[in-house]
Amino acid sequence: MDLQHTNQSLKDVRCDALVVGAARTKTAQQTGTIALSEAAAATDHLLDGLVSQICAAGEFKGNLGEMLTLYPVGKLAARRVILVGLGAQEKLDAQTYRRASAIAARHAQKTGAQSIALALLMDSQSDDAAQQVQAEAEGTLLGTYTFKKYKHSEDGDNGRGISSVTMLANDDRARELDAALARGTALAEATNFARDLINEPPNVLTPTELANRASAMASRYGLECEILDRPRMQELGMGGLLGVSQGSAEPPRFIILRYRGAPRQDGGLALVGKGITFDTGGISIKPAAGMDDMKGDMSGAAAVIGAIQAIAVLKPAVNVTAFVSTTENMPSGTAYRPGDILRIMNGKTVEIVNTDAEGRLVLADALSYAVKEGLSPIIDVATLTGGIVVALGNKMSGLFCNDDQLTRDIIAAGKRAGEKFWPMPLDDDYAEQIESDIADIKQTGGRTASSVTAAKILENFVGDARWAHLDIAGTFLSDSQKPYQEKGATGFAVRTLAELALKMAE
Ligand code: BES
Ligand code: MN
Ligand code: ZN
Repeated sequence: MDLQHTNQSLKDVRCDALVVGAARTKTAQQTGTIALSEAAAATDHLLDGLVSQICAAGEFKGNLGEMLTLYPVGKLAARRVILVGLGAQEKLDAQTYRRASAIAARHAQKTGAQSIALALLMDSQSDDAAQQVQAEAEGTLLGTYTFKKYKHSEDGDNGRGISSVTMLANDDRARELDAALARGTALAEATNFARDLINEPPNVLTPTELANRASAMASRYGLECEILDRPRMQELGMGGLLGVSQGSAEPPRFIILRYRGAPRQDGGLALVGKGITFDTGGISIKPAAGMDDMKGDMSGAAAVIGAIQAIAVLKPAVNVTAFVSTTENMPSGTAYRPGDILRIMNGKTVEIVNTDAEGRLVLADALSYAVKEGLSPIIDVATLTGGIVVALGNKMSGLFCNDDQLTRDIIAAGKRAGEKFWPMPLDDDYAEQIESDIADIKQTGGRTASSVTAAKILENFVGDARWAHLDIAGTFLSDSQKPYQEKGATGFAVRTLAELALKMAE
């Protein structure tokens, strides 16, 4: 998909669908007044007041995602105009524009449009205009994403999809707009890459295949890539990853991707991802219902691989290293057992209680590796616990962090990305639950506060680094079709991590 901006006049833009916006004003309920975006007002003028008549008649209220298609019958070069609602005028932010563009682009694509023009901004002169244009680019690319490679016929999606997107914008900010489009494109393409990895079936996306795709991405975008195999893991003493993998016929992989954007050779941001390509639970096997979702138990890995792709494209002046532990978690005669004791790369021992708590074990080795390289801050991303789904549902991810400034930075990066994180405790009183009689720590802390005790386990492997743990078990999947998001993988955390790296480089 090709994205560009133009200062052509609204009347002359040739496209299958021109998308303009309108917001609900505070008094709309009583008076029916609707605030038209600059382009919607211009359209209204060109169509002799048609838009205001429709609004006055109450046929369009400006609610977020509301859509109305108008046919300009030759008065504009555009074949159709889609008027899309932006919701409450006082709540307009980047996420509004991301969602509105996604909804409109999705609709345009489903109805056969190949070229669209976007002119949603309420105020193209505002300080936030570049950020809003970035959000429109993201919304368009994220909203039109589909995963149909295994479907023979693609009914419902007629045509070939949208190939060209033009943003109507004021050209005296051309450089700022170019940067905004580049940023939005890189962030959305990286998110969609992560979504592809997550949506792939687990018989295709094995640990070996995940490593292959990471490696192919690395060569394409100029990242260093190192893939460790089992003998190397044995040399390094990665007992967590090796223990979890021993029940599977698929060999484990440890993936390292390096981006060097700062002159200093050492240090920098470490991203760590949980890459369980299928989580059966192992000997402590999971119930059958919903187990298919566990192909997405590598969403943390996909998030860090996607994030470092975006970083490679946008080239911030910071060093970033991504570490991914990837394996299946399977039951078999060779599988690890409850009662086993595993020794993690940093030397600490863990008493296994439940083989379904495998994520913390593979992360423990990856965190130890990042610590050994002297990296800080370290941010790990994982579909780690059912507990976080109970606590936060599918709207927010859990954020566990040992540094208040890093907490604020991640929440702020998430806000720019349209991804929400909620701070959770790492209080030391919880450590009691993971004391073991015979090893350094016990693998699980029981039923209560399970997402917190999981984070407390991880804390044992981060040394003195500034560290954050993102539990995305509630947010990695969208279980229903949303107007702005296809059912399936969300690619959660890709954009937040990339936004954070961009900020760190400032
Ligand atoms: N991958 C699961 C967590 C999960 C649950 C992710 C639901 C996405 C949706 C993880 O490996 C797991 O099984 N966690 C257990 C740990 C428990 C056995 C201590 C959990 O949280 O139930
Ligand atoms: Mn599990
Ligand atoms: Zn898991």
